[in-house]
Amino acid sequence: MWSCLLLGVLSLVPSSLACSGCSGSAGYVEHVRHVKRMQPSAINATYGPTRALEWGQLNFLHTTDTHGWLEGHLKEANYGADWGDFVTFSTRFKHQAGNMGVDLLVVDTGDLHDGAGLSDATTPDGEISMKIFDQVDYDLLTIGNHELYLADIAYQALNEISTYWGDKYLTSNVQILNQQTGEWQYIGKTQRYFTTQHGLRVMAFGVLFDFTGNTNVTKVIPAKTMVTQSWFQDALNCPEPIDVFVVLGHNPARGGNTGSTFPIILDAIRAVHPNTPIQFLGGHSHIRDFAVFDSSSTSLESGRYCETLGWLSMSGFDATNSGFNGIVPGPAGVPNPTRKATQNSTLPFVYSRRYLDWNRRTLEYHAATWYDQSFDYNNGLAATAEITKYRQQLNLSAVYGCVPQDYCMTCAPFNSSGNIFPLLSEALAETVVNESRNDIPRYVIANTGSVRFDMYKGPFTYDDQFIVSPFTDIFLYVPEVPYALASSLLGSLNNAGASQKRNLGVMPVERDICVDPPLGQLGVRHEEQHVSPRITRRQVIDLVPGYTTSDDFGVDGDDTVHSSIPHYEIPDFFQGEGGFDENSQPDIVDIVFVDFIESDVLAILGSNYTSDDVSYYIDADFTTRDYLPLYVKNSEVFQAGLPNCTVT
Ligand SMILES: *[C@@H]1O[C@H](CO)[C@@H](O)[C@H](O)[C@H]1NC(C)=O
Ligand SMILES: *[C@@H]1O[C@H](CO)[C@@H](O)[C@H](O)[C@H]1NC(C)=O
Ligand SMILES: *[C@@H]1O[C@H](CO)[C@@H](O)[C@H](O)[C@H]1NC(C)=O
Ligand SMILES: *[C@@H]1O[C@H](CO)[C@@H](O)[C@H](O)[C@H]1NC(C)=O
Ligand SMILES: *[C@@H]1O[C@H](CO)[C@@H](O)[C@H](O)[C@H]1NC(C)=O
Ligand SMILES: *[C@@H]1O[C@H](CO)[C@@H](O)[C@H](O)[C@H]1NC(C)=O
Ligand SMILES: *[C@@H]1O[C@H](CO)[C@@H](O)[C@H](O)[C@H]1NC(C)=O
Ligand SMILES: *[C@@H]1O[C@H](CO)[C@@H](O)[C@H](O)[C@H]1NC(C)=O
Repeated sequence: MWSCLLLGVLSLVPSSLACSGCSGSAGYVEHVRHVKRMQPSAINATYGPTRALEWGQLNFLHTTDTHGWLEGHLKEANYGADWGDFVTFSTRFKHQAGNMGVDLLVVDTGDLHDGAGLSDATTPDGEISMKIFDQVDYDLLTIGNHELYLADIAYQALNEISTYWGDKYLTSNVQILNQQTGEWQYIGKTQRYFTTQHGLRVMAFGVLFDFTGNTNVTKVIPAKTMVTQSWFQDALNCPEPIDVFVVLGHNPARGGNTGSTFPIILDAIRAVHPNTPIQFLGGHSHIRDFAVFDSSSTSLESGRYCETLGWLSMSGFDATNSGFNGIVPGPAGVPNPTRKATQNSTLPFVYSRRYLDWNRRTLEYHAATWYDQSFDYNNGLAATAEITKYRQQLNLSAVYGCVPQDYCMTCAPFNSSGNIFPLLSEALAETVVNESRNDIPRYVIANTGSVRFDMYKGPFTYDDQFIVSPFTDIFLYVPEVPYALASSLLGSLNNAGASQKRNLGVMPVERDICVDPPLGQLGVRHEEQHVSPRITRRQVIDLVPGYTTSDDFGVDGDDTVHSSIPHYEIPDFFQGEGGFDENSQPDIVDIVFVDFIESDVLAILGSNYTSDDVSYYIDADFTTRDYLPLYVKNSEVFQAGLPNCTVT
């Protein structure tokens, strides 16, 4: 049995602020000189924040659902910073916190790959990206469902992530089979009890939502069960003082019908600690959100894909309610949080939250709002240079074709020409072909959730293959199904229980999915009027489309103001139709579909079909990751724009 006391002793070594200092380590220096900032091909943001951050006594920088986007978004001005810029920023902020006499915890809430080439072009996924990710000096991390689909990835979480981060990697409800002993063990630690630089005694947990799509070498313990386990109850009832609970979770920030298990954890802690602050940091649903649970408990979620850096600050600690020995009531020279969580709160705790756009302009602005000096540190520059080097090694910028226009997932109606799905339907129809069955018409059915990102005008690279359609679902088929039955299948799938697959976590339910501004709309107009040399210059900036967040504290959470992006609903499945004769209706059709919906397809086809009728349509190596690049390489339209293909 682990007592918090024992863990407390083990973790008394403070997280060092000195280890990754301004000078970096000597070994880094030789790599860095030729790369100034971000990735060389990234675009600058055209405008940025206008308000300094509110610093409290306890502050958080939060990343979540990074999904391998460590290179940043090379084609979008809003999110052009790379991981090296964040390495610098987080290092700088830790120094600033130390100098202000306050605490800063840098935290991540999981899903480290499936979504970009840097993570997914290696075998196994994450082989390279993980080591770059590790260069941020995180204080606490937790696991996501994408670390648990495949056995080799789950063991990577055990052998690399957990081993590297040690006490800081929390998997309070996730276990893995120890292959040597045959016993179940936690991948990371169940809890971390530690004292911050400024004396706050923290009890931290890391709780994955009740995920059930995990590989069977892992076990996800439902939250309701976890809170009854003796280690958890012991942690709540431990004799050591607890000034604040920090609950990380790959878990939507908000309760209700989101699938979040945070409310269960909240209730369990409140049963023992009615007033102690509990700070939740969530993820998974890919949105910006902030929820107030009670007067001393709030919950932050910080988007996805290195588009958002979350900021949360709180004050209210003093000698009567904590071991805090930093600045009371809060740091000088910067704005402080002023807002109580609830209107009728009688507790001293005040909060602020902010969602930062992931670009250099934003990071430089906030780094300079307290200190005024040049931004870059050697450790960040080294990470940037490493990303550039690995992108070259992996050939990620190899160009396959030229995308003639922007195609988005939900910012245009599902069947309109600005939407990506009509294009992908055509790609499925043209590329998912078995030559020996070429003469038999086919429906090729895929799930819209397999598509992860918009496609921008400009070069379509090897990297984009992973960005748009990163998963490797194999195409299966049932041969020669009567046309009437086959032609109703898509509609039935979209209206039937197959959509429940969403709940497996394959496709997070995204409340605010269309947050990626199509590049065509990115133009920012500067109207500069020089009426006479003495008259002040007026500058009017049209807002760039992007996040427009509304949360429990209102609509002022977005650090940079954006115009909103339209959002259209999309069904769960779409299909390509290949080999049909325009003038006549076929008698039979091959039904081709992604592997994980086999049972749903068979259920709809009825008792005349069993799994004996299902086999690979092409082979096990041709997957949902392969059809789009093949289409791009073969498409006249996509080849026409080469060689003069640019982003703008
Ligand atoms: C971005 O801005 C910096 C100055 O902050 C400039 O040096 C750089 O050339 C710009 N990059 C692009 C691609 O415009
Ligand atoms: C996991 O499933 C595989 C294939 O069905 C089976 O061979 C294996 O024994 C299972 N492992 C565990 C730990 O249940
Ligand atoms: C504050 O108001 C909420 C909702 O109106 C209520 O549930 C809660 O008990 C109140 N708390 C206090 C401390 O009065
Ligand atoms: C990288 O891409 C180029 C151009 O597509 C190709 O010629 C080359 O063989 C690729 N190299 C590797 C290592 O894949
Ligand atoms: C898209 O679908 C709607 C409703 O099914 C239909 O009214 C509309 O004509 C379609 N638009 C196009 C461009 O096919
Ligand atoms: C099974 O196939 C037979 C012969 O084609 C057909 O008459 C019957 O309706 C089918 N049954 C179902 C459940 O579709
Ligand atoms: C195509 O289908 C045939 C017959 O089912 C099968 O033998 C073959 O492996 C499939 N794949 C390819 C690439 O032709
Ligand atoms: C490509 O762009 C260059 C420079 O803008 C221009 O000189 C050249 O004619 C263009 N080539 C094609 C094929 O459009």
